[in-house]
Amino acid sequence: MGLVNQTALFWLGVALIITSLQTGSFGQDSNSEPSEKISFATQVRPLLAANCFGCHQGKIDRGKYVMTNFTGMLAGGESGEPAIVPGKPQESRLIAVCTSQDGTAEMPPNAEPLSSKDLDIISQWIKEGALNDYLKPTSNFSNESPPVYSRLPMVTTLDFSPDGTLLAVSGFHEVLLIKVASNWDKADTEQPILGEITKRLIGLSSRIDGLKFSPDGKHLAVCGGNPGEHGEIQVWNVETGDLTLSKTLSFDTLYGVNWSPDGTTISFGCTDTTLRTINATTGEQQLFQGAHDDWVRDTVFSKDGTKLVSVGRDMSCKLTDVATQRFMDNITSITPGVLKGGIAAVDRHPTRDEIVIGGADGIPKVYRMNRLTKRVIGDDANLIRELPKMPGRVQSVVVSTDGKRIAAVSSLDGQGFLSVYSYEFDTSQPPNIKAIVSKVVTSQSKEEKDTLRAHVTKNVKQISDSKIDTG
Ligand code: HEC
Repeated sequence: MGLVNQTALFWLGVALIITSLQTGSFGQDSNSEPSEKISFATQVRPLLAANCFGCHQGKIDRGKYVMTNFTGMLAGGESGEPAIVPGKPQESRLIAVCTSQDGTAEMPPNAEPLSSKDLDIISQWIKEGALNDYLKPTSNFSNESPPVYSRLPMVTTLDFSPDGTLLAVSGFHEVLLIKVASNWDKADTEQPILGEITKRLIGLSSRIDGLKFSPDGKHLAVCGGNPGEHGEIQVWNVETGDLTLSKTLSFDTLYGVNWSPDGTTISFGCTDTTLRTINATTGEQQLFQGAHDDWVRDTVFSKDGTKLVSVGRDMSCKLTDVATQRFMDNITSITPGVLKGGIAAVDRHPTRDEIVIGGADGIPKVYRMNRLTKRVIGDDANLIRELPKMPGRVQSVVVSTDGKRIAAVSSLDGQGFLSVYSYEFDTSQPPNIKAIVSKVVTSQSKEEKDTLRAHVTKNVKQISDSKIDTG
């Protein structure tokens, strides 16, 4: 198959096309129009991206109408009528279908209609001639013209399928599905076997920030977006490679995508500081919660799916009740000085409501999700263990499927580090520890503090520790 040959470029990095892409995407509009004309790039397109692109793009073209390509957006879809007639908003079908009557509009279907302010912006832009000042050549990639790489791209995220046979890896504008070589565990470590790229899942968004296989392994959820423009959640059918959902929302890329244990709901975090969930089939928003003060970077559900944990740049790790969308608790201490820097990653033990977090302080930590003692000011009572500090910032943490190992990766000065720890310590809270953490921190004696320190590092074992060089 040509697929494999083409993707050899991905790994080897030969062509120079990406350079022209980059110049294109960062090129500024040199047209310094003095008037106050409406800009398609900065005013109209973001509205359409947030409300319409999910159903009207290359992969999902409802009504045979593709809005991600400018010519197609003007032309319209299966009706045969032009969607936009430059200069004439009254004759433009796009305006007609978005105009609400009695609080509902034809487009977007089953959703809040565009506000009259937003609709006025689009109408005015059409009136002024529907000019295109959008210079980014994004989203023109497809299976027929896939992205080509001139150098190794940054891999932001990867995930194994539940049965361990597939590895999903982020690229530029796409996710690669790699069939893991069956003899990988016997591979010569000097010459790692990559396996065969079986599918390239090419979507709307340039940047992929997170991906996760569904619990049954049949779907892959992907989060990302175009920075500063729109965020997107994609759901792909792993077997066919079809895009089954594209939900665009927010004005920036999305982070920390994950599945509820029953596979019906997808959670993720936004740079607008909200934590959200959507229905994995319809894309309908289910949970919207604003307890964080900064970007929400990663999410994980409790074992039974009734609670959701989120971590963020605001250094906090929060517990939310899924049914009521209510903030329940700060799992980690929020006392200034206890956590140093933002938290980037969270994963859960496969069978217990315990989590591992990692972030800017370089120390992976294990916490229980549900507190056993009353919250007292300044406590860090849910802390189970602190693992040895890694160089730099922890970027990702993961618990093995058998619950016996914890792996964490960090980076510092262009170098990567991977540590594997045992998760085979006793995670219960002994009565003496319970008594100490029930006290206000300032009233704990020196001996009590020492006992606590000794407890959170007890039986911690680092199994391996590797340095990963670049290139
Ligand atoms: C949830 C999916 C969905 C979203 C979101 C959506 N559409 Fe549609 N759109 C459809 C479907 C389905 C059709 C096909 C006609 C129908 O069934 O109503 C359609 C048809 C259209 C058509 C007619 C195309 C033609 O010529 O036949 C226009 C114009 C249109 N949509 C504009 C928009 C705009 C503008 C937005 C955003 C404000 C939007 N749509 C958001 C699903 C969607």
